[in-house]
Formats: sequence, C-alpha cells, structure tokens
Amino acid sequence: MHPQLAADLAALPDLLDATRKLASGVLEGLPDRAAAIPPPEPSFAPLPISGGGTRLALEEFARRWEPGFAGSAGPRYLGFVTGGATPASLAGDWLTGTLDQNPANGVDSTASDLERETVGWLAEMFGLGGEFSGAFVTGATMSTVTGLAIGREWLGERLGVSVADDGVAALGPVRVLSGSAHSSISKALSLLGIGRSALRKVPTLPGREAVDVAALAEELEAGPAIVVANAGTVNTVDFDDLRAIAALKERYDFWLHVDAAFGGFAALSPEHAALVAGLDLADSVVIDLHKWLNVPYDSGVQFTRRRDLQLSVFRNSAAYLGEIGENPDFMHLTPENSRRLRALAAWFSLVAYGRDGHQEIVERCVELARSLGARLSASPGWRLLAPVRLNVVCFTLAEDPTQERVDAVVRRLAEDGTVFVTPTVYDGIPALRAAFSNWRTTAEDVERVFAALEES
Ligand SMILES: Cc1ncc(COP(=O)(O)O)c(C=O)c1O
Repeated sequence: MHPQLAADLAALPDLLDATRKLASGVLEGLPDRAAAIPPPEPSFAPLPISGGGTRLALEEFARRWEPGFAGSAGPRYLGFVTGGATPASLAGDWLTGTLDQNPANGVDSTASDLERETVGWLAEMFGLGGEFSGAFVTGATMSTVTGLAIGREWLGERLGVSVADDGVAALGPVRVLSGSAHSSISKALSLLGIGRSALRKVPTLPGREAVDVAALAEELEAGPAIVVANAGTVNTVDFDDLRAIAALKERYDFWLHVDAAFGGFAALSPEHAALVAGLDLADSVVIDLHKWLNVPYDSGVQFTRRRDLQLSVFRNSAAYLGEIGENPDFMHLTPENSRRLRALAAWFSLVAYGRDGHQEIVERCVELARSLGARLSASPGWRLLAPVRLNVVCFTLAEDPTQERVDAVVRRLAEDGTVFVTPTVYDGIPALRAAFSNWRTTAEDVERVFAALEES
C-alpha cells in the first residue's frame, strides 16, 4: 500500500473528525455566508505527484477553494431553483459515500430495496399510484431524457418498429408538443436523436405560460406525438391543465410527459395541490429532489407507467449480470449502470421529517415568495411580471428595464452577497427571478433580500 494511504487508514477516525469540524464550521457560517461569490481568474495547481495525505488535502481545500464557494445551500440563494440540504439528508449523503453501495444490481446488497422503498414513498407523496415505477437519476434533465426515451419507444410501438433495436431513423419525423418547455427538453431531444427542431411550441393562454389546450388538440390532429406538459414553469411557475390535457387521450394518441421538476411539490400542500391534479394521468413524470426536497446534489427521480418499454430502451444484458427478472435491477431502467445510492439522502430526510415536514418547507417557501412579491409590488422601484403562483417571484425594474440595467442589478447583488437571484427574459422583458426552495429561509431573510434589492 502507498505509505500515504496506509498512514491515512491508520488515522481514519481522526481524519473524519477533522473533516466533520471543517463541515460544521461551514454549516455554522452558512446563514451569513455570501450567497454568491463571483469567481476570480482561476489559478490551477500542478498535479500532486507523491501526495500529502488527507490532512493536507483538507488544509489545501480550506485555503484555496472553500472560501470561494457560494452559500448556495444557504437561505438567501434564490437563483435558478436551488434547494439546500436538510440535516438528515446531509447525514444520509455522508453515509452514501461511506457505505459506497452500487444499487445498479440487487444481488449483493439490500441497497436497491432501500431505493425501491424510497421511490414508493415519493410516488405516494406525489399521488402516483402503484402502476408507476420509479428510479433515481441525477436530476430533472436525466429524468426527462429517460421519460422521453420511453416516449420515443412508445412512438415506435405505434409504428410497429423498435427504436431501441433499429435506431431513431426507423421512426421518421417526430413531433414533440409543448407550451413553455424548459430548456432541458431541447437538450434531451438533441441527445435522443429526435432533434431540437422536433419541439413545436404550442400557443399558450393569453398572458400565461400555460398551454392552450384547444391549440394543443389542433396540433394533435396530425397524428401520434409526444406532449410535454409543464407543471411549474421556471419563470412564472405556471401550470398546464394536466387533467384537460390527459382528457385529450380520448380523441388523440400521444405520450404524456410531465415536467414537474419542482412544481410537483405543490402536491404536498392542500392549498396548492389542485395545480398538479392529473399528474397521475401522465405516462412519464419528472421530479427533482435536489430542488425542493432539499437533498444534496445530485438527485432526481423518474416515474413511468410503461416499465416494459423502459426496459426495452435501457436493458443492459450480459451473461455475467444474470437474468433480468420480474423486478428488474436499476441498471436496466435508466441511462446509468453503476452509480451511487442517491436514494439514501432522500430516505433520511423522509424518515426524519416525514411528509408533514416537507409540506411545511413547501408552504413556508410559498409564503415567503408571496411576501417578497407583495413588498416589490408596493415599491415604486419594481414591477411584478406575473402573480406569485407558487415559489418564484418574477419581477423587473419599474423604469426602463433594459438588459443592461437588469444585468447591472444582478451583478451588484452578486457582489454584495446578501442575496443571489438570476436574470431571465419574460415576455420579451429583461427580468429577475427570486426562487424560494431552501428549507432554511425565513421571514427575516425576506427582509434582508428586500433591503438588498432596494439598495441595489
Ligand atoms: C421545470 C424544470 N425542468 C427541468 C429543470 C432541469 O433541472 P436539472 O438542472 O436538475 O436537471 C429545471 C431546473 O431548474 C426546471 O426548473
């Protein structure tokens, strides 16, 4: 054994303790850590040749890198849609690395069954019945890749071809219909060989990002298609009418993929659950967990009701891997084979806080978003671009909201560090988004965020 490895093995308990101290210090400082730290020009060190052991790695990390890391797990990081890590999920994540299980197959460990238990709990939380099977992936984008790959296979089934065997060319042109698709849909279509130009934007309702269901019906006259319904758009958190879309199945043939990456969490709150009514009528569903479940990156889940087609796409047969049985191993269900036991962090958080604890996070975030929205609309400097439907406030400068002026605000806020928000363009207007999805955020943070915005 390399002497440094042997020394680290002998000192492992002390090294873990030193790591824990570093982590505790970071966590203690998180509420006041700068939300964003604009990175300077990087200066890369040469490859270490003999290595200095874990203690040196800790010192080097603490000196060279950790100070430049953003407070993205903290309470005032409102950029993109970003969750933090609940205490229990962090504990689960540490143990994920410690036990280093590979849930790709289920022959040597109970780890895959822990994933099945977790997926079952999540399905129940989101109102998906026993006809759905689920699997962990890295996040919403890979969940979409998986769901659309199954949809692609479904289109092949309609035409009597197997895309999995014969390739996407066997399918001919594909139409993917959506009102306000997230950018990850185009990326998935590119990756799947369907092509970005297969995505047809269907008109939305006036002043809304929700699809016009009548316009969608017209598009479906042209024959089988994939419909991507959006349950929580990234700018204004608008929701397609999932029940009305699913009802079109009586007249038209289509695969219904629902991107409920963060909007799906509305299901946890009785006040907002109606927004996702009909989620259980989808053929494939995207739920991100590193957003509103507040587990560490990376974690998302993919649900589908057509596990048979999923298996056609993702099966990974080899003599040394054994037969694919009634209850297929996870390596046959998603793009990855070997991977970490992502489910453990979610499992910990669900055991620790239950459905109610996660409902409280969702409802608090919505309350805080509304409160910031109310302050901004009462202020002469700002203008809301959409009502606060759930957890995102989409707003802009009341006067002259040019791209340049909005970018300058984002830059000043990032330099100040109190809050991090991300820019967008909504309805042609340069704007800002403040997305509340962190379990730590409180009313006091909203005060600080609003004060920072007013000063920017
Ligand atoms: C609606 C929606 N879909 C998909 C994604 C992509 O998520 P990820 O970056 O976790 O893959 C996002 C990210 O914000 C999103 O908001």
